[in-house]
Amino acid sequence: MQKTLVVTGGCGFIGTNIVLHAKEKGYKVIAFDSLIRPLSEENLPILKRAGVEIVRGDVRNPQDIERLPKPIHGIIHLGANPGIPWSIAWPIFDFTTNALGTLNVLEFSRLNGKFPVIFASTNKIYSEEINLVPVKAKGKRYVWDFAKVNKKKVRATVLAGLTRSGVNEDFPMDSSGRFPHSPYGASKATADLYCQEYFHIYGVPTVVNRMSCIYGLYQKGVEDQGWTDWFVRAKINNQPLNIYGDGKQVRDALFGTDVTKLYIKEFENIDDVAGQVFNVGGGVKNTISLLEAIEHLNKKGGKPLKLTFKPWRAADQKIYISDISKVQKILGWKPKVGVIEGIDKIWDAYSKLN
Ligand SMILES: NC(=O)c1ccc[n+]([C@@H]2O[C@H](COP(=O)([O-])OP(=O)(O)OC[C@H]3O[C@@H](n4cnc5c(N)ncnc54)[C@H](O)[C@@H]3O)[C@@H](O)[C@H]2O)c1
Repeated sequence: MQKTLVVTGGCGFIGTNIVLHAKEKGYKVIAFDSLIRPLSEENLPILKRAGVEIVRGDVRNPQDIERLPKPIHGIIHLGANPGIPWSIAWPIFDFTTNALGTLNVLEFSRLNGKFPVIFASTNKIYSEEINLVPVKAKGKRYVWDFAKVNKKKVRATVLAGLTRSGVNEDFPMDSSGRFPHSPYGASKATADLYCQEYFHIYGVPTVVNRMSCIYGLYQKGVEDQGWTDWFVRAKINNQPLNIYGDGKQVRDALFGTDVTKLYIKEFENIDDVAGQVFNVGGGVKNTISLLEAIEHLNKKGGKPLKLTFKPWRAADQKIYISDISKVQKILGWKPKVGVIEGIDKIWDAYSKLN
């Protein structure tokens, strides 16, 4: 029997990647999206061509979710405000979308047969406490300086959640009031906890993926969100770039097609992963700093990117690397596309359009 997968936020960046992959795998796929992100509309023709059913609706409204055709075998829940600056500008909008919207999706599953809900959480649920671990500059990037950790200042729980492989799932979500998360981090943390509660209290098979930096095709990066895409387009279009901080901040980057395979694998192996929380990213093998990404893009020729350095942004992490060993061990999933290879794929796709 053909199974039906609903992807909320299915017309957005990660949504488009997942929906196309699910379609290829033979699922009936419904992309449920409010299209509040205007550029998501550019993905519509691609989705329609692939035979994806599009339902326009808002996860903030339970009545919209109720309109989804049944039966549904699983929801991949991505529909959200995905940006910190927007959450700071519009906290109520951010909360209702990310926290209440997720609760509505969970409740829909609970009342309609308890199908799996796979949730896109974020590393921003871990507070800025991570910045207590000293860093040192090494070339164009920061590296953690574990030798200089002041054990009086850094809690043992923080150190238990952080190894040379990155941040693992034991890293404390809460800093007992000492550090901010951003409203986005707080609304996503609420949603993340509700997913866990719906598994424990009601038996809804949920999976939480705390993702770091995801990049790839169909992303509509803006200065406030989706930096890899934004940088590539700035280089191609010869536009200046603002860098917040010194550019040595390090991220582990995961390519869209790798994320896609993970979500579908989770759905197909739900008995093995129900109730689990995973840190998801490119891992230690796929880290890059902003300056290193810029250096790589400048090698493509033409005028080098014109950079303006601005003050650090609130709740920014100097280094964030996901320890992906838990999901690797349980599911046998690992990233296939290296970070430079991934940037080149986006470059090639955009260059063809120009
Ligand atoms: N891109 C990343 O690096 C990253 C990292 C961590 C977590 N995430 C999470 O992954 C998810 C997808 O992110 P993305 O980068 O694809 O973002 P995106 O903005 O490209 O896609 C989100 C989609 O959700 C839709 N949407 C927003 N509010 C909605 C609502 N109330 N009802 C229905 N649809 C709504 C938007 O129109 C958009 O098409 C988000 O939940 C985000 O928080 C993304």
